[in-house]
Amino acid sequence: MQYFVFLLLAAFPALAEISFSRQIQPILVRQCTACHQPQSKQSDFSLTTYSDFQKGGRKGPAWIAGNPGESVLLKYLTGEFKPQMPFGGKPLPQDQIDLFAAWIREGGKDDTVSTSTISQRKEVTYHSAPLLTAFAFSPDGKTVAVSGYHEILLVSVEGKLLARLPGDSMRIHGLAFTPDGKTLAAAGGSPAQKGEVQIWDVEKRRLKHAITASTDTLFGGSLSPDGKLLACGAADKAIRIFDVEAGKEVRKMDHHEDWVFATVFGIDGKRLVTVGRDRAAKLSDVSTGRFIENVNLLKEPLAAVARHPKRDWILVGGAERVPYLYRMDRPRAMRIADDSTLIQKFEKQDGPITAVAISPDGTKVAAGAEAGDVRVYDAESAKLLGRCSGHKGGIYAVQFTPDGSQVVTGGFDGELRFYDIEGKLARSFIPAPIQVATR
Ligand code: HEC
Repeated sequence: MQYFVFLLLAAFPALAEISFSRQIQPILVRQCTACHQPQSKQSDFSLTTYSDFQKGGRKGPAWIAGNPGESVLLKYLTGEFKPQMPFGGKPLPQDQIDLFAAWIREGGKDDTVSTSTISQRKEVTYHSAPLLTAFAFSPDGKTVAVSGYHEILLVSVEGKLLARLPGDSMRIHGLAFTPDGKTLAAAGGSPAQKGEVQIWDVEKRRLKHAITASTDTLFGGSLSPDGKLLACGAADKAIRIFDVEAGKEVRKMDHHEDWVFATVFGIDGKRLVTVGRDRAAKLSDVSTGRFIENVNLLKEPLAAVARHPKRDWILVGGAERVPYLYRMDRPRAMRIADDSTLIQKFEKQDGPITAVAISPDGTKVAAGAEAGDVRVYDAESAKLLGRCSGHKGGIYAVQFTPDGSQVVTGGFDGELRFYDIEGKLARSFIPAPIQVATR
């Protein structure tokens, strides 16, 4: 047992000390910065950078290093100070509040890699695995593009690092290869600073376009079936469509009332489905930007969407923990508040759903949850086929391999895991080149 713990600590030094950039900041970005940022600074408190966060708001410093019990921040998170934060939302789960407390107890240190280092184009050095927020397979199934910290990593499916593609964005939230495999599109950004789309020439490892859009992170980039258009959501509630070849934003739509987390095009590329925190799966017309209708019955915030390979069917998941398969088109006369588009409903997961995927032949679906579990189901019967376990933290991305034989997962612990359909782990590796401390 002791030996096991030792191994864990040796392999995951991050477990020994809580990291601001890897563990605390992602929660702030998702739960807090919508109201606490330079443009909308509730209670004079911005928490988009470490120094603003430390400075605090009207009540003074947000925390006192080493003393979580006396920290304003924790009092607002636990509800001791009213109104409880996040304002108007669900309180953070206890384990996240504990994480803030433990981080403050350890001194509330900043471990963010400074952006000046980045602009000098120095390579990022990893001492522990960065969050794995997105990945995509090349069409031939041989290469995986994986999100790093201020870069994209190209690795072989066996885990060999092939290339590092450094960019401005701190995090990448969406990755997709064009059908010919020659171009890689990425959407991401740096929280409360900027959103960015990157278009890479895969063979030459060259950045063809870097397009700044929005003053906040872009989420969920997806390509049209012909690879010509890239759609993404954003923290500013907008849906944006970019021309991949020209490297230009061609359309911006404001159909959502809250953050837009994920996007997917219909089979013919003429329509787009977007999902977000406003609970809606919205169908829009790509060429005019017109809003068509909500595909789903509004229940709870949605985080993920995937499309069936051969039909205009979409799988969505979010805070309600239930994956739903919907058809994009309403079969009968339009009735807004009905569920006539629903095809299949799957088992409730143990935590909010953060990622979904449909197999290349359309027969299986997979859902990943914040609870660190990925389950595979038969699409038609909704029968559970496999449970992929062993993750140390939440899931951010799930895909089937292009041949459909495996389910691949990525998330908080930075490891890429390949499972067979029954949930047996085939292999796993950390794509980021981690430097072993020499001391
Ligand atoms: C929907 C908007 C909204 C969200 C989301 C939100 N806040 Fe707030 N926050 C507010 C408002 C409004 C106040 C002022 C409350 C009051 O005093 O009446 C506030 C005040 C605070 C304060 C007090 C600051 C001071 O010094 O006065 C802290 C600390 C805080 N929020 C932390 C957080 C954290 C941490 C999160 C995320 C977990 C969060 N907030 C999410 C709106 C929000």
